[in-house]
Amino acid sequence: MRKTGIRRDARRVTAREFGMATPSPFAFDGNLIAALRSARFIAALTGAGISAESGLATFRDAQTGLWARFDPRELATPSAFARNPKLVWDWYAWRREHVATARPNAGHVALAELERRVPEFALITQNVDGLHQRAGSRSPIELHGNITRVKCSREGTVVERWTAPRDAVPRCAHCGAMLRPDVVWFEEMLPEQALAAADDAARRCNVMLVVGTSAEVYPAAALPALARRSGAIIVEINPNATPLSAAADYVLRGAAGVVLPTLVAALD
Ligand code: OAD
Repeated sequence: MRKTGIRRDARRVTAREFGMATPSPFAFDGNLIAALRSARFIAALTGAGISAESGLATFRDAQTGLWARFDPRELATPSAFARNPKLVWDWYAWRREHVATARPNAGHVALAELERRVPEFALITQNVDGLHQRAGSRSPIELHGNITRVKCSREGTVVERWTAPRDAVPRCAHCGAMLRPDVVWFEEMLPEQALAAADDAARRCNVMLVVGTSAEVYPAAALPALARRSGAIIVEINPNATPLSAAADYVLRGAAGVVLPTLVAALD
C-alpha cells in the first residue's frame, strides 16, 4: 500500500531536460512535485557526489575519485593503521585540510531548506565532511563518522585537542594509545545508533531522495530498497547511472548543486 498514493510509473527526467546551464523548474514531473508537497516525512541519503561541487573528490569516479588514486586497503582499514599508522594519519590529515577549506554548496543548502519545509525530515549521509551541518542541516545521521573528529584508537573517546609530533602519530593523553580519525573504515561496524536511526527513517519516510552516491557500499546502499519496500517513492539525483537507477521511481540526471535547489524552489 502506497503511503502517498502517487503512481510509480511517472516518466523520468532526462539529462537533456536537466542541462547544467539552464535548469528549469518546469522539467519536473507533476506527480513528483505533488509527492514532495504532500509528504509528511522526507528522507535524504547522500554520498560523496553532493560534495563534489564543493571541490571534494568522490571515491569511485574514474580518474578523479579517491579510490582511483589511492588504495583503500593501505589507507582505510584497521590493518592498514596497524601496519603503517603514520601513513594513514597523514592521509586523513591531508583530507581534513581539504574539508576545512571547502564550503557547502547549493545542494547542501537546498537540503537544509527542504528540512525546514516538511513536518519530518531525516538526512542520512555517508559523507564524513560535515558540510551538511555547516549548510544548516540540524542533525544529520552520519553513517561513516566525521573526519573532523579524532578519537582514541583504544577507548574510542573523541579528543578535542592533540599535539602532532613530526614523525609519529599523536597519542591519547589518557591511555597513551594512538589517535585516529573518527571515521568508519572497511571491515568496521557502522555506529549502532546512526544505523538504527537510518533504518527507522527508511521504514517511515514517504519519499527518499538518494543524492550523489554510487549505491555500492552496504549497509547504506540497502536503505533505498528498504524505503521502497516500506512504500516510499525513491528519487535518485545523480549525473550518472547507478545500480539503484532502474529501481528508482524518478531519476533526475544532473549535478546535486543544480537539481536540488531547482527542485526545492519548484515546491513553492
Ligand atoms: P562514490 O564515489 O562511490 O560515488 C559518488 C557518486 O556521486 C557517483 O555515483 C557519481 O556519479 C556521483 N556524482 C558525482 N558528481 C556529482 C554531483 N555533482 N552531483 C551529484 N552526484 C554526483 O561515493 P559514495 O557513494 O559516497 O566509505 O561512496 C560510499 C562510501 O564508499 C563512502 O562513504 C566511503 C567510500 O569507501 C568509507 O570511507 C567507509
